[in-house]
Amino acid sequence: MANSLFRKKSIEKIIRDHEQGLADGHGGEMRKVLTVRDLTFMGIAAVIGAGIFSTIGSAAFDGGPGVIFLFLITAVTCGFTALCYAEFASRVPVSGSAYTYSYVTFGELVAWILGWALILEYSIGNIVVAISWSSYFNNILHNVFHINLPAWLTTGYSTASHVYQDALAAGKPVDNLLFTTAPRFLGYPFIINLPAFAIVCIITLLAYIGIKESKNTANFMVGLKICVLIFIAVVGIWVIFSNDTTSNWTPFLPNSMSGVLKGVSAVFFAYIGFDAISTTAEECANPQRDMPRGMINSLILCTLIYVVTTLVITGMVNYKEFEGVTDPLAFVFDKINMHKVGTFISISAVVAATSVMLVFQIGQPRIWMSMSRDGLLPKSFSRIHPKFQTPSFATIITGFVVGIPVLFADDKLMTDLTSIGTLFAFVLVCGGVLLLPRLEKIPGKFRLPYINGQWIIPALVVLFTILFSGRIADAASQIGTEGYQEILFLVFMVVAWVIGVMSFIRKYSLIPVLGMLCCLYLMIEIPAKSWLVFFGWMVVGLAIYFGYSYRRSRLA
Ligand code: ALA
Repeated sequence: MANSLFRKKSIEKIIRDHEQGLADGHGGEMRKVLTVRDLTFMGIAAVIGAGIFSTIGSAAFDGGPGVIFLFLITAVTCGFTALCYAEFASRVPVSGSAYTYSYVTFGELVAWILGWALILEYSIGNIVVAISWSSYFNNILHNVFHINLPAWLTTGYSTASHVYQDALAAGKPVDNLLFTTAPRFLGYPFIINLPAFAIVCIITLLAYIGIKESKNTANFMVGLKICVLIFIAVVGIWVIFSNDTTSNWTPFLPNSMSGVLKGVSAVFFAYIGFDAISTTAEECANPQRDMPRGMINSLILCTLIYVVTTLVITGMVNYKEFEGVTDPLAFVFDKINMHKVGTFISISAVVAATSVMLVFQIGQPRIWMSMSRDGLLPKSFSRIHPKFQTPSFATIITGFVVGIPVLFADDKLMTDLTSIGTLFAFVLVCGGVLLLPRLEKIPGKFRLPYINGQWIIPALVVLFTILFSGRIADAASQIGTEGYQEILFLVFMVVAWVIGVMSFIRKYSLIPVLGMLCCLYLMIEIPAKSWLVFFGWMVVGLAIYFGYSYRRSRLA
């Protein structure tokens, strides 16, 4: 059995299976309409959303203007990963993303685990974005149309329950809290996030109707949000220099790098999504050439936009004023009494979040489609709609998986889970590249440049150890009393040393190893209690694999 758990598919077999799937009826040809421009737009559509419009506020408060360094560091981390994705995408040009890639390199069990983790990125990620969409949407209803939906129809049950529990614990009055005042259903408070549910239904419908229609909608929304962010940059710079508030940039690092690093999760969330491009390989005109370009282009453009936006908001308003601000872009303009601009930004935040949701809602069914073709999920997941040519059943299931929890969920835990699941996938993609046989460069096709990491990687591990020696010593001396967080850090240090030694012996390629280490580091910065939920999620996934998928696999 141990061997069969790691049964692998060759790249040739994946492509052959895909073609056979088309022939024997449970597949169906998808439209090959996406170009490099569409892919770049799709990347931006997936990346720029709730992150820059919401979480940048807390990151700016903790780190000051210097949070741009965190955007740059995260961009470089994502860049390493994007190059690894691109290498895979150019060799395995079928849908399925990291799932398919790990089937080639690590075998079936890891592929299943990864497919299961990707649900966290795509579906759980979309829950976070839908909740953010809902709050901006309510702002617009309130500010523009003067409509106030009752709080029990616009709040997640868990969010209201947390506020209630916290108040109880702190001995504060709870009579006026939503959890107490909401209407009752079967004795329980009836509290749901209806706008979030409605937008998930609409997006699911769009994804169901077809990639071409979805693509056009995404292109329109991306165009709009780029225009808005350029507008913010231009007006913001003009305001900074005409009001002479450049002094807000001094000091640039008010809380040193440790303040900046507090924003890791928030900033990483803002970058999630560029990899979603790889799920549409079958709908690309020329995936081997265009997919890498699309990914790198979108990453560079997003970084530029994020850095400029961060400089603008921290130049307009002092970083100390961002405490608890969840709509920082609208906030800075409200602060200088440009309320109309604030409302306009809220509208674009809604558009931005919509486009992120669309890309994720397209990506998830395509991963399930690949898993179903491999026999790991029921056949209906790879059924292609005869008219719309989309994975219809899988799209509807995605709608339920995202739509039902948004009615009740709280976004904090969901954000952490999204980041852990995504970083986990990134680590495996980077690691997987190391296992691919090296190939000659073929003109027109992307190849990851090989840089020998024999000396560089161990040197970087030693440097990191010296720089973090204080934290290592603290964590080691308090190992029995410290929480799980510092144990995670020590585990990371051990892994880094093992990889350093292996790189010295095996002359590993530099880029994938750096990608792996950077992603692992970001992972261990995520709160340990979210890790426990992540492990629970994985246990459920493994139970399904051994109960169903293992025997039904087409490789069985
Ligand atoms: N990067 C995406 C966003 O910020 C998930 O909404």
